[in-house]
Amino acid sequence: MKTTTENPDILVDNFGRRVTYLRISVTDRCDFRCVYCMDEVMQFVPRNSLLTLEELATIGRAFVELGVSKIRITGGEPLVRRNIMKLFGDIGQLPGLDELVITTNGSQLTRYATALREAGVKRINISLDSLNAERFTNITRVGDLGKVLAGIDAAREAGFENLKINAVILRNRNDDEILDLVRYAASRGMDISFIEEMPLGVIGDHDRAAAFISSDEIRAVIEQDYELVPTAATTGGPARYFQVMETGTRVGFISPHTHNFCERCNRVRLTCEGRLLLCLGQEHSVDLRRVVRAHPGEMEPLKQAIRDSMAIKPKGHDFNLQEQPLIFRHMNATGG
Ligand code: GTP
Ligand code: 5AD
Ligand code: SF4
Repeated sequence: MKTTTENPDILVDNFGRRVTYLRISVTDRCDFRCVYCMDEVMQFVPRNSLLTLEELATIGRAFVELGVSKIRITGGEPLVRRNIMKLFGDIGQLPGLDELVITTNGSQLTRYATALREAGVKRINISLDSLNAERFTNITRVGDLGKVLAGIDAAREAGFENLKINAVILRNRNDDEILDLVRYAASRGMDISFIEEMPLGVIGDHDRAAAFISSDEIRAVIEQDYELVPTAATTGGPARYFQVMETGTRVGFISPHTHNFCERCNRVRLTCEGRLLLCLGQEHSVDLRRVVRAHPGEMEPLKQAIRDSMAIKPKGHDFNLQEQPLIFRHMNATGG
């Protein structure tokens, strides 16, 4: 048998970074309108531009055959895509895939938690920025906190190996809830990651620079009540993890502005229209929908297009919260 180093059929970019993680955005639609993610009124991709579930599964398979071992299903809100469990069924069976995971806003989890667990999903990341119902509705513009908390409870009952909360902290909006969110997660045996807001898309009157809080500031707040010990733990994602000594759970920080992780980047993203994005913060991309439709049922042209895409994976992002975003694509088109 060939070892990995002898096997040329893996994905390595021009900076020597190996790509082992694919994030698939299965829809840009969402039942929320989070202020940092979307504008109040959004134009969504027309349904006939979407990749079919079969095309999504074929592209997933091509990546796994090229050494990708982790696939994350994202959106928009992935669980609002019709028949989405079929995709979990198809991708979950691919030999060589170690991890099939999902990032969700939690609103549909009461309905889907058990089916996801049965499809082999071991970990779920759930967004939760406030534990106050009124504020939650303000930040998401339309979301119902009760539904999300019930979804989290359903996921806990379904027996996942790990549930992680994702929180975006915004100054003067939810920065007084940092410790409450840590306590909420820890008391339920869940990890929590705090994410620095990224300037993707024009989003109405939310002022990103004014709302920005660095991971170091958040960490200092948590350390008022808890002892945080750095760990080398990694999920293959961008978070730096700390063990919370009092609870045995972990707190992570995703800090694209203050602790750039681009040199360790191991991931690429597929949009719901089949555009393969080589970096979250740049526009370099390859149209895989064209390839999959030009060669129905054939794996090799798809795999070759993916191998070739490695040549244009950029070194990193150029995020700057003070300026108008350089990237007009909203986060919901990319899936985070
Ligand atoms: P784990 O598998 O649990 O590590 O998940 P993850 O952090 O990879 O995924 P998740 O969907 O929970 O993403 C959390 C946040 O990290 C989102 O806001 C993503 O946009 C952000 N993120 C993930 N990858 C990148 C990246 O390459 N660059 C930047 N700037 N942010 C990223
Ligand atoms: N900056 C940082 N995180 C964002 N998310 C959505 N938009 C942004 C943004 N502009 C987060 C969501 C979710 C994850 C996938 O991305 O809150 O937890
Ligand atoms: Fe929807 Fe997630 Fe964007 Fe919020 S952050 S609007 S839940 S896609």
